[in-house]
Amino acid sequence: MHDFLRNLPKVELHLHIEGSLEPELMFALAQRNGIELPYDSVQEVTDAYHFKDLQGFLTLYFQGMSVLRHEEDFYDLAIDYFKRARNEGVMHIDMHFDPQAHLQRGVPLDVVMTGLLKAKQEAEQTLDLSIGMIMAFLRDRPAEEALDVLEQASPYWQILDAVGLDSAEQNNPPAKFAAVFERAKQLGLVRVAHAGEEGPAEYIQEALDVLDVQRIDHGVRCLESDEVVARLRSDQTVLTVCPLSNVSLKVVNDLRDHPLPRLVAEGLKVTISSDDPAYFGGGMLANHIACAEAFGWDEAVFRQLTRNAIEEAFVSPSRREALLARLSSV
Ligand code: ADE
Ligand code: ZN
Repeated sequence: MHDFLRNLPKVELHLHIEGSLEPELMFALAQRNGIELPYDSVQEVTDAYHFKDLQGFLTLYFQGMSVLRHEEDFYDLAIDYFKRARNEGVMHIDMHFDPQAHLQRGVPLDVVMTGLLKAKQEAEQTLDLSIGMIMAFLRDRPAEEALDVLEQASPYWQILDAVGLDSAEQNNPPAKFAAVFERAKQLGLVRVAHAGEEGPAEYIQEALDVLDVQRIDHGVRCLESDEVVARLRSDQTVLTVCPLSNVSLKVVNDLRDHPLPRLVAEGLKVTISSDDPAYFGGGMLANHIACAEAFGWDEAVFRQLTRNAIEEAFVSPSRREALLARLSSV
């Protein structure tokens, strides 16, 4: 099964590139940029990664990314993850990034974009790995700020695959960003949003109704509403489920209690992603292996979930065909 899962042409629809920052690179970048970290060793960093909830994680996530200052830091961050992912058999990644988390620290959008785009280009030219770009807004910050970032990003509208919505979900409902997502729609940008991770099933409904999203990131709490499940099933809206993330952030107590098998049994369009692999115990391969062990899934289930991800990935028609062909050959 491990060999099969490694060879499976995996497609990751939900990955925060800042959440792929491994402690080793965090230290290297801190040293390069003369930044003091509140840790003395890699071990101390990983020891700190025991989270009570999403907010507990977000605090360390924002602290960790403070080492990213220059174009080459963003390039190193992204290319490091792309190479690791490719070695695990990943063929495509739709990458979220959080401009506001960098703008707040005085790092201009151009610095972030130039570094990330250089890594994307290199991955696509040399690694046979395609990369989608999702510019995410921090939902615990004011909507006006998000709108301002969207306007600032005008030189990049053409190369963005989507805008997203992430960070602290509770008490930051999708409707808060109605105007931002309306503007994104007007610009012809695809929209996705985190919903139903820590927040209730109604937030999934609201993201669909008010933000007109094409994809729900996480969405596991949809099972609390028959109405929401029925809608997701009938529209075949893709859910980007992140099993090890949900365990780390105590959305579930144990992977064996995870609702993934029920989501699949309900006929929903489920996919598997890693979310923040440096913080949650591993990347795409680790997430797949953990699911195989926890749920006893056979190859057919993983093939179906991979097919779902390929169908929904932000790729060209020819790349989608190539990925489907590759899936048929394993
Ligand atoms: N930002 C990075 N990871 C996140 C997650 N799991 N949920 C919400 N925002 C995030
Ligand atoms: Zn996420």
